[in-house]
Amino acid sequence: MNRKQLIKKYIEFFKSRDHSQIQNLSLIPENNPTVLFTTAGMHPLVPFLLGEPHPQGKRLVNVQRCIRTGDIDEVGDTTHHTFFEMLGNWSLGDYFKEDAIKMTFKFHTKILEIPIERYAVTCFGGNKNAPKDEESAKVWQSIGIPKERIAFLEDNWWETTGVGPCGPDTEMFFWKDNSIPAPKTFDPENENWVEIGNDVLMQYQKDKEGNYNLAKQKNIDFGGGVERTITILNGLEDNYLADIWQPIIKQIEKLSKKTYQGNEKEMRIIADHIKAAVFIIADGVTPSNTEQGYILRRLIRRAIRYAKNLDIPKDADLTTPLVKEILKIYDDYQHLQTNKQTIIDELNKEEEAFEKTLEKGLRVFNKNSDKDIDGKTAFLLFQSYGFPIEMTMELAKEKNIQVDRKDFEKEFDNHQTLSRTASAGKFKSGLADNSEATTKLHTACHLLNQALRVVLKNPNIFQKGANITAERLRFDFNLDRKLTSEEKQQIGDLINKKIQEAIPVELQELTTKEAKTQGAQGIFDDKYGDKVKVYTIGNFSKEICAGPHVKNTSELGNFKITKEESSGSGVRRIKAILE
Ligand code: ALA
Repeated sequence: MNRKQLIKKYIEFFKSRDHSQIQNLSLIPENNPTVLFTTAGMHPLVPFLLGEPHPQGKRLVNVQRCIRTGDIDEVGDTTHHTFFEMLGNWSLGDYFKEDAIKMTFKFHTKILEIPIERYAVTCFGGNKNAPKDEESAKVWQSIGIPKERIAFLEDNWWETTGVGPCGPDTEMFFWKDNSIPAPKTFDPENENWVEIGNDVLMQYQKDKEGNYNLAKQKNIDFGGGVERTITILNGLEDNYLADIWQPIIKQIEKLSKKTYQGNEKEMRIIADHIKAAVFIIADGVTPSNTEQGYILRRLIRRAIRYAKNLDIPKDADLTTPLVKEILKIYDDYQHLQTNKQTIIDELNKEEEAFEKTLEKGLRVFNKNSDKDIDGKTAFLLFQSYGFPIEMTMELAKEKNIQVDRKDFEKEFDNHQTLSRTASAGKFKSGLADNSEATTKLHTACHLLNQALRVVLKNPNIFQKGANITAERLRFDFNLDRKLTSEEKQQIGDLINKKIQEAIPVELQELTTKEAKTQGAQGIFDDKYGDKVKVYTIGNFSKEICAGPHVKNTSELGNFKITKEESSGSGVRRIKAILE
């Protein structure tokens, strides 16, 4: 069974049990500023899991693209991936444990034909948050899972980072070893048992303070990894031998003139990281030194370093042939096809940039690697040679030396403070007179910043720079194309609407952590505890900003875009006035 067949069977199975199929959404979460990427199918559903009615009903099913960055450095073995697809089905206050378990079991054993002899489950063993889940175990027994194949574990609990619905879970395992029959008694520590599904029994809600409160609505959140399921259904020992990886691996073999066998780690890393990068770029992210852009940069640069280990020539185009294969495998993702050129261009740009400095950086690293790497050297590698700190740490690990990460962070902070002071100085001179005119334009910048995200329906549009004089504002943001005249009109209209609504502009002093939790736009450094000024315009805009701003949007007059032009690759510039 291949990827497409598996997805089709899964969706059909749950559709025939009254589930509506919901969209496979962006990897960049829209409603949850506490996570960088969608890490599970439930993410976009948080408001509905908390009780808001879902327009498609109480039973939902889909396949969701996901990114997990927690163990990027683990990628290289047979099972870890950064990008993966998750099969998901949900009950929003509808069916609970019994039906969920029965449906999952039927799908696994009847549709996927997994033999019950190779099947085992875990249930929640109880802790201070919730009692042992005897109920689920009884359901499993009632459908034929023997007692010895049910293990109670304390860490069978599922929650995401940050606030949200959570609860105990029951997980399903498959015995993957074809040479020995599965032991009668299930030992979850035995690595021949691989997890193929997880039914989260959402009875709790975690709040901002980290308390677990009983949820008003009980939900089911099932998740199953497509990659693993395909691997086991095809009797493979290594995920990367499946047909969603092999065409990519074959290209890497061609480029390196080496075989997969003997070079598995390098090839898996390159294939995994470039696949993840393709999906991240397609969802609107470009490589940078912050947030999602930084993860993207880390992935691409790590792949390039491993390509060097395989002696793939520096001047060979590593990424384009891989992108082509990835797009063929995932031809059911329309947005990958429409963004093909952007994906290729962004990868090429990053590849070219890093190849210029990689060798020199490695020389610097090697010269300093007779002892532990201090913060200054790690920062030099970061700043002048583009080595993400994680890469320097990985290189150090290979040489059995340490990196003084704390010292690196200190260097990094010093540098940030210097450049922030410099740019604050520049900005101040733009606002030198602090006149009424510049103050108004400053508030208009905040409205524009949010209006762009709303009109372009892209939460991932960010301010890249701004400059204000008494006459006009200039605002740079990330976008790889011209705005249409319709979009410009809509942006102007939306801003003028907000001006007419006469919304008060409020100032609060918050810690960066609070600002982040409240979804404020702006640059966050990790010095939690530091107070920042946050300006809020109704429920439209919230930004970390030094000000000053007007008291009420009604003071602004009429907003008008006078120019929209390119300002470097992937960056557009708007000039606008207030009349
Ligand atoms: N949300 C659950 C998981 O990621 C299903 O395992």
